[in-house]
Amino acid sequence: MLRVDNISKHFGGVWALKNCCLNIDNWPIVGLIGPNGSGKTTLFHVITGFYTPESGKVLFKGKEIQSLPTHRIVQKGIGRTFQLSRVFETLSLLDNLLIARKDILGEKVASLFTRWEKIQEDESQARSRALSYLNLMGLETKADEPAGNLSYGQRKLLELARTLMLDPSLILLDEPAAGINPTLIKKILSVIQSLKRKGKRFLIIEHNMDVIIQLCDWVYVLDAGAVIASGPPDAIRTDPVVLEAYFGK
Ligand SMILES: Nc1ncnc2c1ncn2[C@@H]1O[C@H](COP(=O)(O)OP(=O)(O)OP(=O)(O)O)[C@@H](O)[C@H]1O
Ligand SMILES: [Mg+2]
Repeated sequence: MLRVDNISKHFGGVWALKNCCLNIDNWPIVGLIGPNGSGKTTLFHVITGFYTPESGKVLFKGKEIQSLPTHRIVQKGIGRTFQLSRVFETLSLLDNLLIARKDILGEKVASLFTRWEKIQEDESQARSRALSYLNLMGLETKADEPAGNLSYGQRKLLELARTLMLDPSLILLDEPAAGINPTLIKKILSVIQSLKRKGKRFLIIEHNMDVIIQLCDWVYVLDAGAVIASGPPDAIRTDPVVLEAYFGK
């Protein structure tokens, strides 16, 4: 489904990614770990078209996507959340979801006259999908409240719900468990597992090793912009190369 092939990206003199390679075809949930500044978020930005790499390829479902703009990559089926959640604080939870849709019919003025019934049907379908995702996140009772009322962890759930509105087949999560309380971590784990059962694939950046061990089928470890190890989570946790990258010799 996703292959990263020799991707390099630099900022001034800093190589954030150096010939980075990974392939997540064989596992539904893949973890991406590594010390601070090792290039994890930069790799997400490259995969989702926020950054163009200096060299290398990103293949999604067999097609190159490294030169495509973000909206085309979203249309192809890659969704993401951000390390620092990006929600619209003054909009209701429901509206935060309704603005994230592909192909909104009512946006074309001509359709307002010619396809009114279809637009209404679309709106009501989108609304019920949005409510079902809020329900999945345990946020349905807050549907009409402004997103600014949510806790940090709830915002992460809202962001994931918004990503689902775009019907991605692969979802990239940047530190879904960081800074949130244990109850919400459990909620996020169960949501991800239930989406996995429905066929969604995940690539997850996370510093919390318990989360990685509970969720991931495979883990890649980045250090200084390159993959230094990969394997099942249990083996990665005790790999001397990985321990050295985190803690030094
Ligand atoms: N926009 C930018 N301009 C300049 N340097 C950048 C930029 N984005 C990232 N970097 C640098 O690239 C390197 C990789 O950063 P990145 O944010 O990808 O790391 P990370 O693995 O996500 O770290 P963390 O675990 O702290 O989130 C770092 O040295 C960082 O300072
Ligand atoms: Mg990061």
